[in-house]
Amino acid sequence: MATQDFIERIQRRKAELGPRLLLLTHHYQRPEIVALGDERGDSYQLAELASRRAEAEFIVFCGVRFMAEAARVLAQPGQRVFHPVPTAGCPMADMAELPLVERAWAHLERSLPGKRVVPIVYMNSSAAAKDFCGRHGGAVCTSSNAGQALEWGLSQGDVLLFFPDQHLGRNTAARLGLPTTQVALWQRALPDGGLAPEDLQRARLLLWDGFCHVHTWFTPEQVDHARRQHPQGRVIVHPECDRAVLKKADGAGSTGYIVKAVREARPGDVLIIGTELNLVTRLAAEHPDRTVVPLSPSLCPNMYSITPRALAEELEALPGGRHEVFVDPQVGAGARLALERMLTLGG
Ligand code: 13P
Ligand code: SF4
Repeated sequence: MATQDFIERIQRRKAELGPRLLLLTHHYQRPEIVALGDERGDSYQLAELASRRAEAEFIVFCGVRFMAEAARVLAQPGQRVFHPVPTAGCPMADMAELPLVERAWAHLERSLPGKRVVPIVYMNSSAAAKDFCGRHGGAVCTSSNAGQALEWGLSQGDVLLFFPDQHLGRNTAARLGLPTTQVALWQRALPDGGLAPEDLQRARLLLWDGFCHVHTWFTPEQVDHARRQHPQGRVIVHPECDRAVLKKADGAGSTGYIVKAVREARPGDVLIIGTELNLVTRLAAEHPDRTVVPLSPSLCPNMYSITPRALAEELEALPGGRHEVFVDPQVGAGARLALERMLTLGG
């Protein structure tokens, strides 16, 4: 069956369900999925929407699993959340398994007596990791409010444990002016995180060693090459990229920041964007009067796995649905607390 047939099936089902359905789509989704959504956004905006659209009976989330789980945690009790492709996960979120976080935490408690450690977990994490943060006085953050979250955390305690994305943590710390001598990397596979006691004593920010393979694909050499190709262009990258890439870029910020930068550019401007490919090609199509090119093509296969067919089948299976999202009530309360702290920080 052709894509157009699935699109028509989705449109038909949307018309039948009307306001009972809220279809949320992340900016990295395929263009045809984004075009069908009721709302599009970055992970912060979509979490916020899920928390306040109480009138929708069904929230169908086109994004990766941690986003659908966050929507489930923030949605009202009577609402139901569905994720058309339950295998669409985020490898970086899987880099912070709870037993490893708990092992790190136990080591920090033993090694830093008298110091208060505050956990800050990136949205790209399991509900169990968010629950851990909620129970230990921490908060969730996204790339759009990581700066506020780090400042908040440092006002609450002596040391931050930031997980799972080391790059977002390192880039945000640099933006806030935290000296690199006060930032240390916790290597989860090594005994004691690979840190000598004196490194740990000096640290104000401990970074988990997680990363996003889509964003660490970008290199400083690609920035040099793009500048040779487009001497008048501006390079804008996501803070999940390596620090060396951000140092060479003209600007860095969350998905929402990148969308705004392209929208606010002038006709004729050239923008070279270091983030997920589907977003970049869509921005280019939406702004034909400016040149928008990828720093290098880098596609998130997990986001891409949500197909029009999967969405059509999910919608047609409502009200029962095929893939309803459930979050263990044992972890739901703590995860909700940490997510609500994030929402009070703003986006
Ligand atoms: P945003 O928080 O900017 O939506 O990004 C989510 C993500 O997965 C980035 O790779
Ligand atoms: Fe995860 Fe990276 Fe894909 Fe974002 S782009 S969902 S961080 S793998």
